[in-house]
Amino acid sequence: MKDIIEKLETRRAEAKLGGGERRIEAQHNKGKLTARERIELLLDKGSFEEFDMFVEHRSAEFGMEKQKIPGDGVVTGWGTVNGRTVYLFSKDFTVFGGSLSETHAQKIIKVQDMAMKARAPIIGLFDAGGARIQEGVAALGGYGEVFKRNVIASGVIPQISVIMGPCAGGDVYSPAMTDFIFMVKDTSYMFVTGPDVVKTVTNEVVTAEELGGASVHAVRSSVADGAFDNDVEALLQMRRLIDFLPSSNDSGVPEWPTQDDTDRIDESLDTLIPDNPNKPYDIKELIFKVVDEGDFFEIGETFARNIVTGFGRIAGRSVGFVANQPMVLAGVLDSDASRKAARFVRFCDAFNIPIVTFVDVPGFLPGTAQEYGGLIKHGAKLLFAYSQATVPLVTVITRKAFGGAYDVMASKHIGGDLNYAWPTAQIAVMGAKGAVEIIFRGGDADTIAAQTKQYEDRFLSPFVAAERGYIDDVIMPHSTRRRIARALAMLKGKQVEMPKRKHDNLPV
Ligand code: HXC
Repeated sequence: MKDIIEKLETRRAEAKLGGGERRIEAQHNKGKLTARERIELLLDKGSFEEFDMFVEHRSAEFGMEKQKIPGDGVVTGWGTVNGRTVYLFSKDFTVFGGSLSETHAQKIIKVQDMAMKARAPIIGLFDAGGARIQEGVAALGGYGEVFKRNVIASGVIPQISVIMGPCAGGDVYSPAMTDFIFMVKDTSYMFVTGPDVVKTVTNEVVTAEELGGASVHAVRSSVADGAFDNDVEALLQMRRLIDFLPSSNDSGVPEWPTQDDTDRIDESLDTLIPDNPNKPYDIKELIFKVVDEGDFFEIGETFARNIVTGFGRIAGRSVGFVANQPMVLAGVLDSDASRKAARFVRFCDAFNIPIVTFVDVPGFLPGTAQEYGGLIKHGAKLLFAYSQATVPLVTVITRKAFGGAYDVMASKHIGGDLNYAWPTAQIAVMGAKGAVEIIFRGGDADTIAAQTKQYEDRFLSPFVAAERGYIDDVIMPHSTRRRIARALAMLKGKQVEMPKRKHDNLPV
């Protein structure tokens, strides 16, 4: 018996060593943790249960039959984050560069299927070079199986991908079909093919960072939803994110104890809006002052900064926030902002997370750059996402709500349940000067000035909309948290049936 137990210990120790001391050291020298060290940090202490530690590949090509490493380049299993079950797989770059073989794929598929059965989130920690080149089509088939499961799980359980090393091929396409992608600055890269292949095919000389670093994907391409300074920070932030997310689309949002009174008044909000309507202010200040304990997890912080999206809590329950940001491009809606917010709204709606929208938007961004880039279609995505949402929608217009952007930003007309405005709100087709110059084209300066004043007095207020019931109430800024908390409590049982159909046709 003792021998057998010792044999098990030996086999476990062998598996835990992955690609060996030399490769583990190389991993550490690059500033990266190993697959197992990452799991330790992500999960509650001692909660990890591993599956398939002894699985090996079955390839016999290119001398692979002589190179078998137990676990085959991926550590899989389940554990808890603050007591809640999550499934995970963590790619081991020290074993064939974390590349995916047929058996490696089967390990991932097993946890994907278990996560779906148990209706719990799944997290992938990626540090891998795609399909295992020595296996060819067997590896491609494995990826296909993983991709298909990513799609079937979409909207049923949250799927999170953390990119923690150089990732190529299937190790970027599978993350691309999950809900969130986060990267680690300076050590993680995402590309369909790496710099060497790029050079061969297009003659373009480019570094890994220029091709697919966090500076590309979290800022320019929007492939990633955020980037962190190092592995430790990334994993701790993922624990924070998971605390905001429901376990599945029918679990309801998690509820955490809070000391923050929902009746809390914040007098400083009464002076948040500057006297000059063209002067910016930071909409995040409003978000921080409204959410429980100022705890806000931003999604897409460095991309399309003219709109802010992220998770907070009110009365201990998760809420998705969407807010125009007057500090960047005056909070205008452009293609990138529309895409970013649309995806966030759809995530919240899929997982039954109520949405609070703060509006200060001068309209859609005009010009050829936007039109050629498909602003009509991208703007329509946000309009579509809000119109389709059946979760509680609470909207607060703080200042400008001009033109089509008024309609789009969770207005009453497309499904807003409670639409509030601050006394500083200006709800109109456009700003006064632009409006008068169109109506009184060719008019002299005195006429323009007089009419501008009249337009401002009549339209640049919340009251025209409030008189029609498009705004349910004009509220004091200092009471915003209390009013939102009451609205969400009132809407907790909201139910809306959409017509039966196979699926909608989002303007992608
Ligand atoms: C087998 C691989 C591998 C792969 C890396 N390795 N990628 N082994 N299959 N795909 C091995 C290397 O041989 C090496 O082994 C170890 O992993 C580390 O790799 P390095 O190249 O030394 O590391 P680095 O310089 O950091 O570069 C990492 C990399 C690069 C950028 C990921 O290895 C790379 O470009 N690999 C190929 C990527 C690729 O084209 N994959 C196929 C994609 S197609 P030793 O023994 O030296 O430690 C695909 C299809 C899916 O995925 C379908 C998509 C729709």
